Parts: sequence; C-alpha cells; structure tokens
Amino acid sequence: MIILDGKKVSNDIKVEISEHVKAIVSKGEKVPHLAAILVGSDGASMTYVNAKVKACELIGFKSTLIELPEYTTEDELLKKIHELNSNSDIDGFIVQLPLPKQIDEQKVLMAVDPKKDVDGFHPTNVGKMALDLPTFLPATPYGIIELLERYQIETSGKNVVVMGRSHIVGRPMSILMSQKRKAGDATVTVVHSRSKNLIEITKSADIIVAAIGISEFLTGDMVKDDVVIIDVGITRVPDATKKNGYRLAGDVHFESVSQKASYITPVPGGVGPMTIAMLLKNTLLARERHA
Ligand code: GUN
Repeated sequence: MIILDGKKVSNDIKVEISEHVKAIVSKGEKVPHLAAILVGSDGASMTYVNAKVKACELIGFKSTLIELPEYTTEDELLKKIHELNSNSDIDGFIVQLPLPKQIDEQKVLMAVDPKKDVDGFHPTNVGKMALDLPTFLPATPYGIIELLERYQIETSGKNVVVMGRSHIVGRPMSILMSQKRKAGDATVTVVHSRSKNLIEITKSADIIVAAIGISEFLTGDMVKDDVVIIDVGITRVPDATKKNGYRLAGDVHFESVSQKASYITPVPGGVGPMTIAMLLKNTLLARERHA
C-alpha cells in the first residue's frame, strides 16, 4: 500500500509556483494577488482561509483577507464582491463556503467576475469545464486530478466511483474523470444518499473518491483488493485523548480500507494540501490572463 502524499506533492507544486513568482519579480512585474472573503467565524472555515492566506505569503503572492461578521447581509457581501471585481490590483478571489443562512449562495457565486473566479464556481466556468474549454477548475477536484497524474495512476477505462454529488467536489470530479483528459477516460458512477445496492457498486470500483462528509463511512468490507482511495472528507470527531478534544477523520475508515488499498490518501495530509496548491495555481493563471 502506498500513501498518496498530498503534503509532499503540494509542496512540489508550491516550489514550481514560487519559481514563477521569482521570474515575475525579476522582470519587475506585479506579483499575483489573491483575496479571500470569510463571513462569520466558523472554526473549520477560519482554519481553511488562514491556510490559504499563509500559503500565499510562503510562495510570494500578495493576499488580502476580508473578514465580515456573521450578521452580514447579502447586499453588503455583494457590494464587497463588486469592489473586488473592479479592483485591478486583485487577480483572483474566493468567497469561503458555507455562508450564513441569510445569504443566497448562488447569488453570491454568480456575482463573482468569472475572470477572477479562482474557485471555478461561477456557472460560466462550470459550463466551460463541462465543455472541456480552458477555465479555472475547482481546486479540490483539480488537486485530485493532479495527485493521480503525479503518482501515474492509470484511470483510462477504470471503474471510478464518486461518492457524493456536491457542487464543489462530487459533481465536478465525476465530470472531469469521464472526460478525455489527463487522469480521465474513466467509467464513472456517482453514488449519493438515495443510491441503492451501495456495497455492490463500491466493490466494483477500481478507484473511489469519497466526498460525502460522513466520517469513516467507507469501510474495508465495502471495497475490493488493490482499490485506489481518494478521501476528501475531513471532520472533527470528539476524542478525549487529544488535547484539543477532537481528531480529524476522513470519509474513509483508514485502518480497515488501507489493508486492501493499493494507494490511499491520508487525512490530514492528502487532498487538503492539494486543494490549496491548486488554488494558488489558479491565481497564477488569473494573473497571467489578466496581464
Ligand atoms: N468550502 C469548502 N471547500 C471550499 C472551496 O474549495 N472553496 C471555497 N470558497 N469554500 C469552500
């Protein structure tokens, strides 16, 4: 069994990007600038956004974190988005999800200028992705594609089971892996909360992408030998033996599944760091397109 080391691969990608930044600086050009909007104080979202901002600093990007209170209205958030859309110093920006319930997520995502939409969530960019046109790929699926590619895992003709149909991970992942592309050409099945005969389907999978948000849902008896496992889940599970009172768990029961898997991503240190690296890659792309 081989661990798919997202931390190492994401560091390799960050080194590649920082080389680009050095070249930009040596030519006296403007470095990429990413902004992130965080509404409210959800613990996990704060951790993710801070990690994104810190990654920018490390590789030499400029970053701006805009923190808005939990009670922010939809109009106030839309106003902020319009400001970022028209601020020519900002190459790309993201609005961290989820948003407080008084705000319509679709309205917000549609307000982002597609040229600055480095999360790839705007319908224009989702449409381009579905049509194989160049665009910003959503960072988590893009990171998984990159991880499969860099470990040279064969996907062509393989049975891929994507667990979950979220707009951020499951849906785009299923589209990308069925396309004629790197880490694509797979036969993709999407399973979700209404799927029947789940174990029959997961047992037929050569590759499983687990993105359902239920900790340790996929267990060893649900997979076949030599399966490739990509675990997107990351939830806090109460654990009295830990100082902070919790441990991080994926959607995969690592102990039992890793005994059968040929490759598996750990949690943490698998998909998470890749997501951040690909967001940086999209920001560099936005800067280059913007130039
Ligand atoms: N919330 C969970 N994943 C993501 C992501 O990739 N981007 C944003 N903006 N919010 C998220």
